[in-house]
Amino acid sequence: MAPNKFLFFIIALLLSLEIHSIYGVTDSRDAAALQSLKDSWRNTPPSWAKSNDPCQDWEGVKCNNARVTALELSNRGLEGILSGNIGGLTELIALDFSFNKGLTGSLSPRLGDLQKLNVLILAGCSFTGNIPDELGNLADLSFLALNSNNFSGRIPPSLGKLSKLYWLDLADNQLTGSIPVSTSTSPGLDLLKNAKHFHFNKNQLSGTISPQLFSYDMELIHVLFDGNQLTGTIPDSLGTVQTLEVLRLDRNDLSEEVPSNLNNLTNINELNLAHNNFTGSIPDLSQLTSLNYVDLSNNSFDPSEAPIWFSTLPSLTTLVMEFGSLEGHVPEKLFSFSQIQQVKLRNNMFNGSLSFGHSFGSQLQLVDLENNQITSTTLNSSYTNTLILTGNPVCKALPNTNYCQPQPQSTKPYSTSLAQCGGKSCPADQKLSPQNCECAYPYEGTMYFRAPSFRDLSNVSFISFT
Ligand SMILES: *[C@@H]1O[C@H](CO)[C@@H](O)[C@H](O)[C@H]1NC(C)=O
Ligand SMILES: *[C@@H]1O[C@H](CO)[C@@H](O)[C@H](O)[C@H]1NC(C)=O
Ligand SMILES: *[C@@H]1O[C@H](CO)[C@@H](O)[C@H](O)[C@H]1NC(C)=O
Ligand SMILES: *[C@@H]1O[C@H](CO)[C@@H](O)[C@H](O)[C@H]1NC(C)=O
Ligand SMILES: *[C@@H]1O[C@H](CO)[C@@H](O)[C@H](O)[C@H]1NC(C)=O
Ligand SMILES: *[C@@H]1O[C@H](CO)[C@@H](O)[C@H](O)[C@H]1NC(C)=O
Ligand SMILES: *[C@@H]1O[C@H](CO)[C@@H](O)[C@H](O)[C@H]1NC(C)=O
Repeated sequence: MAPNKFLFFIIALLLSLEIHSIYGVTDSRDAAALQSLKDSWRNTPPSWAKSNDPCQDWEGVKCNNARVTALELSNRGLEGILSGNIGGLTELIALDFSFNKGLTGSLSPRLGDLQKLNVLILAGCSFTGNIPDELGNLADLSFLALNSNNFSGRIPPSLGKLSKLYWLDLADNQLTGSIPVSTSTSPGLDLLKNAKHFHFNKNQLSGTISPQLFSYDMELIHVLFDGNQLTGTIPDSLGTVQTLEVLRLDRNDLSEEVPSNLNNLTNINELNLAHNNFTGSIPDLSQLTSLNYVDLSNNSFDPSEAPIWFSTLPSLTTLVMEFGSLEGHVPEKLFSFSQIQQVKLRNNMFNGSLSFGHSFGSQLQLVDLENNQITSTTLNSSYTNTLILTGNPVCKALPNTNYCQPQPQSTKPYSTSLAQCGGKSCPADQKLSPQNCECAYPYEGTMYFRAPSFRDLSNVSFISFT
């Protein structure tokens, strides 16, 4: 071997030893990319400081054959920016940085380089700026959660290219513009035939909902568009998405008649159309036999008696139609449903006598008929939960009756019973675990119920942690 070749061999050997000893089992490119991410963050897990070998030792890093395949760093108090070096982790399949409020700045277009990414969760951080078009290049992506950040600008039409996507959550940002649909030159969200979740609520989206957005061959179960500035009508095409379970269009500027084919969506359990300007007759929901929660408040429907479905949908747990123009009798049947919990019909024009009929549902907790025209009552004395009739003629005659008094709207909070643990106490930073009555450091966080089928959080049977 010629001396200079030999020297090169030695140097190469030393370099590879060097790289091996710095990064251990981790691929050197991935290790370098992670090191640079670490350098732009504060509060990385302590294990990241003790070793230079991410695959071997770093908490939240998962690897396969020395390549980094998952970063799972939810709720770690990470602070800093997400630098473009993330794009170097080309074998990443899952990336979850959610609920690190200290993560700021805009998203690097280089996220679009992560060709193998399946899951991208950045919810609950403080990212700003546009959602990069390049996310549309992540051909394998099935789960995209960018909710609860400060993203602005438009929804990139390129997201329509994510044909494997089943979860698309952009809620709770400051996104503007209309919901993009495809054209001859651009993709759009109508192409997402495998999507089950369209969560776009709590943004500033405007314009009409294109009829093209929905079609019979979609698999959507949750359409959450509430809290935007959408205008125009509900497209007929929405009524063809048979899989739909939750539809929230409340708090927009939608108008005109509600299409009659919504009554075809027999899997719907939550329907909220409140706070829009819908007109015409109150929609016929009589075929929605799974409907638990319905809210039609604050619209401009024609005055009418209670629609027939008030008396024919025993699945109802909560019926809300406040500030409406309902008149005539309140149907008794409604109160007898075994699942009914809340009936909220204040500020309508119901008149005549109020009765619960022969029996009332055992879960009934709240009947609010404030500000109607009810003139008398025949009530069942075993009903002891809340009834509000203030602002009705009956309260002019009987002002001292319970139901004519202002009532505190008590919502009973839920807390796990520690009764079986006796009087045991714990150090200040710990709490009793209800499972084994030992002191433990609690994992703390906030649960957001976005479409619960129940209203009564105090009922332990709805909340179980195992
Ligand atoms: C981000 O949005 C939240 C909630 O909308 C707001 O309170 C906060 O000021 C925003 N922060 C920035 C940096 O825009
Ligand atoms: C409801 O669905 C059925 C079967 O898919 C269809 O024949 C009917 O036309 C639909 N009704 C409305 C009002 O769209
Ligand atoms: C609601 O629609 C009606 C009829 O189109 C219109 O007269 C009214 O001004 C609208 N109200 C609001 C608050 O937009
Ligand atoms: C609902 O309508 C009533 C009466 O028009 C109004 O006083 C109330 O502010 C409205 N509520 C909302 C949230 O728009
Ligand atoms: C109740 O209202 C309906 C519809 O507005 C009306 O026809 C009826 O006479 C009223 N009944 C009473 C007892 O005031
Ligand atoms: C009162 O309601 C209870 C529970 O629904 C029922 O069992 C009872 O028969 C009712 N009493 C009268 C007088 O209607
Ligand atoms: C709690 O909910 C369950 C299931 O719906 C019901 O059977 C039970 O009666 C409820 N308990 C109370 C205290 O309301």
